[in-house]
Amino acid sequence: MRVGSGMMRVGGLVLFVAGLAVGAGAQGTQKGAASGAASTQPRTAGARPTAAATPRNAAIQPVVAATPPMGWNSWNYFAGKVTDKDIRDTADLLVSSGMRDAGYVYVNIDDTWEGKRDTDGKIQSNEKFPDMKALADYVHSKGLKLGIYSSPGPQTCARYEGSLNHEEQDAATYAEWGIDYLKYDLCSYGGVMKAQAPNDPAGQNKLMHEAYEKMHQAIVKTGRPMVYSLCQYGMDSVWEWGPQVGANLWRTTGDISANFDRMSLIGRSQAGLAKFAGPGHWNDPDMLEVGNGRLTLDENMTHMTLWAMLAAPLIAGNNLTEMKPEIAAILMNKEAIAIDQDALGRQGDRVLADGPLEIWAKPLKNGAKAVAIFNFGESPSEMRKDNLHLKEMGFAGAVTARDVWAGKDLGKITDAYKVTIPKHGVVLLVVR
Ligand code: GLA
Repeated sequence: MRVGSGMMRVGGLVLFVAGLAVGAGAQGTQKGAASGAASTQPRTAGARPTAAATPRNAAIQPVVAATPPMGWNSWNYFAGKVTDKDIRDTADLLVSSGMRDAGYVYVNIDDTWEGKRDTDGKIQSNEKFPDMKALADYVHSKGLKLGIYSSPGPQTCARYEGSLNHEEQDAATYAEWGIDYLKYDLCSYGGVMKAQAPNDPAGQNKLMHEAYEKMHQAIVKTGRPMVYSLCQYGMDSVWEWGPQVGANLWRTTGDISANFDRMSLIGRSQAGLAKFAGPGHWNDPDMLEVGNGRLTLDENMTHMTLWAMLAAPLIAGNNLTEMKPEIAAILMNKEAIAIDQDALGRQGDRVLADGPLEIWAKPLKNGAKAVAIFNFGESPSEMRKDNLHLKEMGFAGAVTARDVWAGKDLGKITDAYKVTIPKHGVVLLVVR
């Protein structure tokens, strides 16, 4: 269990209060408000860090990723097999399924689209993607946006061509194609760092920061707004410096996979990071596996809930050609999405951990809070010993509650609220 600075020990239980409003209904009284590194100022990949820090500039600049980006990415299901046709099919299905209108607008091509460079050094897409500009036009014609992937190293993680020494040229090519989102994955740049600063971890980190800033500036130079997504698995506490290199989101962990243990481990490990997230700059615990692998319905709901509580980017990763109605219902649950996308832009945090039972809370606009009661354990939990800890969330007495997954108003509830939560399941409430 992670023990952060906002921890309180109460009778053998551990209460986590970092990042939550403490004190009745008071906005802005939370402990652990944004640090200097993670300014609350919206930051865009199209704005230099210093310029974006001035309110005058911020007012006239479009805010890229004002709420956590939503969309779809090819990696979790298609991995190295993804083709132009898969992207077009996905674009069609995002529209026909209602996902686009629910907010999933970015269609992101992950690794393995890259071909060789031409004689001028310009990157070409490979035979799986015959015409990237035409693909972008198609995706845009559906009211969607197109994302792409590269690495600051010589090669991507799947050993395709990376952007090293071609940063400006690649950003310009992406802009020419009509790309709206770049995931920039460290991969082989780790080897470059080690070679250039052997046995010097601080020197290696400096090289990493510079590599990410270099692509940031290359994007700025294109003049095209692009969401800038850092992927270096959380190294060197990226949440502390991500905004300074123009990141709109940064991966906080290693790769997710479609099983409950890995997904829940990643989600739970985000406790304590809330203060680093905000409009324009988000912690990214990796893309969704909802609908993938053998996740049960409860596990899929837990996954969606945890990511919504974390104000995490909601980047679906399932095969939409075979999406079951119950999976569509989870991904498109309007109230869960609204929690993730809440305009306040505050990431939730853990309030209580009592073994496998955890309570997390996320501040929402107008003083409401999302409250998730998770059962990460192997048998149903009746919450016998635990109350809701409403006081720690800033509520003095009874609250009005709505059960999101049940779609039911519960009326008034008190701190003594009890519910049975299935194995690997969750109850998600909005209280006010
Ligand atoms: C890394 C990333 C993944 C994916 C693959 C592609 O592992 O963390 O999300 O992009 O590379 O090769």
